[in-house]
Amino acid sequence: MKTTLIFATNNQHKVEEIRYVIGEQFEIITLQEAGIDIDIPEPHDTLEANATEKSQTIHLLTHQNCFSEDTGLEVEALNGEPGVKSARYAGDGRNFQDNIDKLLHNLQGITNRNARFRTVISLVLEGKEYLFEGSCEGDIITEQKGVQGFGYDPVFIPTGAGISFAEMTMAQKTTYSHRQKAVMKLIHFLNQQNV
Ligand code: IMP
Repeated sequence: MKTTLIFATNNQHKVEEIRYVIGEQFEIITLQEAGIDIDIPEPHDTLEANATEKSQTIHLLTHQNCFSEDTGLEVEALNGEPGVKSARYAGDGRNFQDNIDKLLHNLQGITNRNARFRTVISLVLEGKEYLFEGSCEGDIITEQKGVQGFGYDPVFIPTGAGISFAEMTMAQKTTYSHRQKAVMKLIHFLNQQNV
């Protein structure tokens, strides 16, 4: 029988990317499909703590195996910002475009464009928590390129790629992606558990 995991997110882009990597091996149920209509808070100052908050919240509600992920864009010249605050960088209720605008504004005139995406996955399996991490190094470009993906994808070029995440197909983004690297560790772990 296939192992079923609830994915504690309301972000459809993340669901698509993770289903793409996981394939048929495990069944991923979204919050919507599980009939859970909540916006889980991300109040902490680390990706790890926010990921834990999300998976534990859903585990307490459902008592089922579940996982969550929290991702941040860490920009070297901005001392790691927006980091854990990536979703709310331009303020509460702001959208992807506002966040990108603020990021490009804060990097105006700065030549060090080094950045990385970092994803932390929190899995709650049979009541126990396990963390997995993946990262992707790259550069923030000065103008947006591409329309695929989501979030900061139009301004991020992974090292060696030559095009932004937003100019890539799902398959291309997957070969570089922070999320994919964390998910591969999750899959490896699940396979070892024989679940
Ligand atoms: P969170 O993990 O949902 O808190 O996302 C943090 C912020 O980073 C949000 O603004 C997302 O849109 C953005 N983000 C998360 N993953 C990615 C990605 O793979 N590419 C671009 N932006 C992302």
